[in-house]
Amino acid sequence: MLHTQSHDDDTVEPMFGWREMREPIPRWTIPDGELPAAAAAQLIRDELSLDGTPLLNLASFVTTWMEPEADALLAEARNKNFVDQEEYPRTAELERRCVSMIADLFGASNAGTAAVGTSTVGSSEAILLCGLALDRLWRAKRKEDGKSTDHPNIVLGTHVHVCWEKFCRYFGLEPRWIPVSAGAVHLDVEAAAAAVDENTIGAVAVLGNTYTGAFDDVAALAAALDARAAAGGPDVPIHVDAASGGFVAPFAYPDLAWDFRLPRVASINTSGHKYGLVYPGVGWAVWRDAAHLPDELVFHDNYLGNDQITFSLNFSKGAAQVIGQYYNLVRLGRAGYQSIVRNLLDIAGDLEQACEDAGFSVVSEGDALPLVTVGLRQDAPFTAYDVANHLRRRGWIVPAYTLPKSADDVHVLRVVVREGFSRDLLDALMGDAKDSLAELRAHPPSQPAPTVSEHGKVC
Ligand SMILES: Cc1ncc(COP(=O)(O)O)c(C=O)c1O
Repeated sequence: MLHTQSHDDDTVEPMFGWREMREPIPRWTIPDGELPAAAAAQLIRDELSLDGTPLLNLASFVTTWMEPEADALLAEARNKNFVDQEEYPRTAELERRCVSMIADLFGASNAGTAAVGTSTVGSSEAILLCGLALDRLWRAKRKEDGKSTDHPNIVLGTHVHVCWEKFCRYFGLEPRWIPVSAGAVHLDVEAAAAAVDENTIGAVAVLGNTYTGAFDDVAALAAALDARAAAGGPDVPIHVDAASGGFVAPFAYPDLAWDFRLPRVASINTSGHKYGLVYPGVGWAVWRDAAHLPDELVFHDNYLGNDQITFSLNFSKGAAQVIGQYYNLVRLGRAGYQSIVRNLLDIAGDLEQACEDAGFSVVSEGDALPLVTVGLRQDAPFTAYDVANHLRRRGWIVPAYTLPKSADDVHVLRVVVREGFSRDLLDALMGDAKDSLAELRAHPPSQPAPTVSEHGKVC
């Protein structure tokens, strides 16, 4: 039988002989007719194969590998809407357990059903929610005191993630920027404490900044703010952005008090999809206690049949990632997270040494996140962006970027060491990095290098 149009018997007619396979895939408007499922899947898969390889994406903090058991669990949950708590009460229960475990990990004293927090799509949503809570607490206090609520501000370092700028812009807050310098990419706590006033809703500390992975000294910030309050100044709470450090510090540096052990810390966000080791996107917002989450922000509705409580920016979201987080917490336990984080930090240490040996100058500091940020030596006849481009040709995604605003004359490259980045991959990366440097030295680029990386963004 001669097959012309129909694909009833795929085993006889080869797919790449189908008419559809010599037409361009529909791009900008929904096509009038159907595509055979196999052809649609093949065309899309082929297009996606031009993306970078997630494992080699050393720009991202976000998890690219989970255990096969977790893969199966997540796949089984992909058709569950997290918000349908009436239909999926056990999923909601797993979220509550995650909140309790994370609050406990962060030194809160209310583990169990009294823990206060929520899952989010990522740290960005968690930051918007925690920022809103600080804003509403400040407003309530100001109203109580009969004072104006017209000009709220928030104190933060120029090294914070861009989502803080979004928070300020979306919700009408004045950002009080504390500059960081190239040699010290962390919050100047004395300057931050000096910058707060009666209109300050909170001060932000970052546990693992995006640029160099360094931790802000939260305890020193708390002490400086305590001193201002004790001297009759404003009594300002701290929010800790622990997007990356929330699942690193408790395991690698358990004696470091950066969390609810410090009474001034009101709320913390962390990304489950970073060192929480879950695929994107899941984050967590956790408050010290119920008094730090104003009730006016918590929504109750009975649209799906029972009293549901939500504190989120959107309604529906997938349930799989919350389930994946619970899997990791019970599967790995503290010991499992600790052994993974220690290995990653060791590998980052080896990478730092290898970078120095290869002629890079290391910018990142120890006792922080497992990442390595390097600059080029001053006499290099090429830029960090040229190195990023050469590595990209070899499959590696390593971003080049400038340090934050107040230090943005310094151009760096950054490698995030994530689960999956083995010692062998380190050797392969450094082999390619050395070849790239040798090529660039032998043939320095004649064109001026771009000031913004084509391939990487600080994320
Ligand atoms: C310090 C910091 N805060 C916030 C974010 C935003 O996190 P997410 O991507 O989970 O929304 C990031 C992302 O890298 C980050 O590094």
